[in-house]
Amino acid sequence: MKHDTILVLDFGGQYSHLIARRVRENKVYSEIVPYDVAPEEVLELNERLNVRGLILSGGPLSVYREGAPKLNTEVLNLGLPTLGICYGHQLLAYMSGGVVKPAERGEYGVTYVTITKSVGVLEGLSLREKVWMSHSDAVYDLPKEYEVLAYTENCPIAAFKHKSKPIFGVQWHPEVIHTENGMLILKNFIFNICGCRQNWEMGDFIRRAIEELKVSIGDGRAIIALSGGIDSSTTAVLAMKAIGERLTAVFVDHGFMRAGEPEFIREIFGRMGMNLIVVEAKDRFYSRLKNITDPELKRKIIGEEFIRVFEEVAEKVGAEYLIQGTIYPDRIESGFRRFSDKIKSHHNVAGLPLKIKFKGIIEPLKDLYKDEVREVAGRLGLPREIVFRQPFPGPGLAVRIIGEVTPEKVEIIRKADKILREEMESAGLQGRLWQYFVVLTNTLTTGVKGDSRAYGYVVAVRAVESREAMTANFAKIPYEILERISTRITSEIPDVVRVVYDITNKPPSTIEWE
Ligand code: XMP
Repeated sequence: MKHDTILVLDFGGQYSHLIARRVRENKVYSEIVPYDVAPEEVLELNERLNVRGLILSGGPLSVYREGAPKLNTEVLNLGLPTLGICYGHQLLAYMSGGVVKPAERGEYGVTYVTITKSVGVLEGLSLREKVWMSHSDAVYDLPKEYEVLAYTENCPIAAFKHKSKPIFGVQWHPEVIHTENGMLILKNFIFNICGCRQNWEMGDFIRRAIEELKVSIGDGRAIIALSGGIDSSTTAVLAMKAIGERLTAVFVDHGFMRAGEPEFIREIFGRMGMNLIVVEAKDRFYSRLKNITDPELKRKIIGEEFIRVFEEVAEKVGAEYLIQGTIYPDRIESGFRRFSDKIKSHHNVAGLPLKIKFKGIIEPLKDLYKDEVREVAGRLGLPREIVFRQPFPGPGLAVRIIGEVTPEKVEIIRKADKILREEMESAGLQGRLWQYFVVLTNTLTTGVKGDSRAYGYVVAVRAVESREAMTANFAKIPYEILERISTRITSEIPDVVRVVYDITNKPPSTIEWE
């Protein structure tokens, strides 16, 4: 069965993923494609999917500026229903001969819009609607085949429709939660205008993924690198359901795991009856990291060594297939977005097979967003501790120790991390934040412990709220909890004399310190 699909053409807006996720929340499949997708590419996608409509995303530029991203007009000629949002709205107007120019006053945040005609995507909306805007340009005029549907004080054409074709534009962001009836607008588009059926469903996904794994692997053997994170764990369980003991899961203990982690993995996956190999590889990782202080070099070395260990196991167990827990945002970030900048080289196990020749690489979760993976994990019966786990970087505590990584420093950070986790859990903050962790800085400062001078490390506590890790806000943790954390860390760990709390958002900081 082909899924009814809405393609989101990505003009570089912050919310392109959010649009796709909102569509999927309605059980309709959605994929992100580059803004200049060619008609042939859409037709090619249509062989595997049932493309029913296009949404043009927002974007940071002005449509009239030279070099601003434009739509391939041939794509519009395919006759698919189209909804332009923000930049997409302005672009549809501009490309059909309308006037777009800087607005006298931009609109940012909550705005009230007056709906003059509640038809098409605006069906069911009231005269006055609370919406979320973020624009400095506006549409001022449209050719006669278009009709204006809404305006605001500063924006004369806040929504429009084509008189005879299923083409719509809205200046505001229906995908953002602050737009009160945003979901209704998207639903109008998806169901009334595009006629989509609700056939994107996680129960079906699981059945199909297992079937596809069975067919691809036949009676061969497969291997997966299991980190204990939700993506690789879910993938491993799907694969185990498909090929049973012909799957080998490999957990590489590089020595930079949090306290209790290898035992936790053994316990959970052992209980499931998974064929699991835990490779103790601490010594080789430590010796390769000796005297290394540069964060990127650390990541590179850890990544390489990881591959080496993994290769050795793959060869030993004679696996012909490699299964990976790549999810949709990983895939998009690494190739689809043409303008994204490399901030740091994340080491998950993407790009694994260097020397080992696999007959095939299989990525069963490659089309899913994180919340969809969580749903799959829940349906597969993975324990809550895995389903709601915080992300943990592949290179582990090694990138949370600033400067050279030594076994002594790892011991210190493990103890501090354990204290932080215990205190956050007992304060009921577990599961409410995107991540919380400690960083061992390479700064030594003076303190006083008992009656004598102490000289020791500064530990930083980082706790953030986020949805997708692309942006994050530091968590406003009550002072009493921070005080308990700081008191325990300094009194239980002799090498630490000072605790600081990181109050930066992302951007400009990243979530991890290295
Ligand atoms: P940053 O520090 O880039 O982190 O703001 C964004 C999210 O990614 C996690 N992270 C990693 N995950 N391998 C991973 O699998 C890595 O090397 C890595 N580095 C950072 C980080 O914990 C945060 O959730």
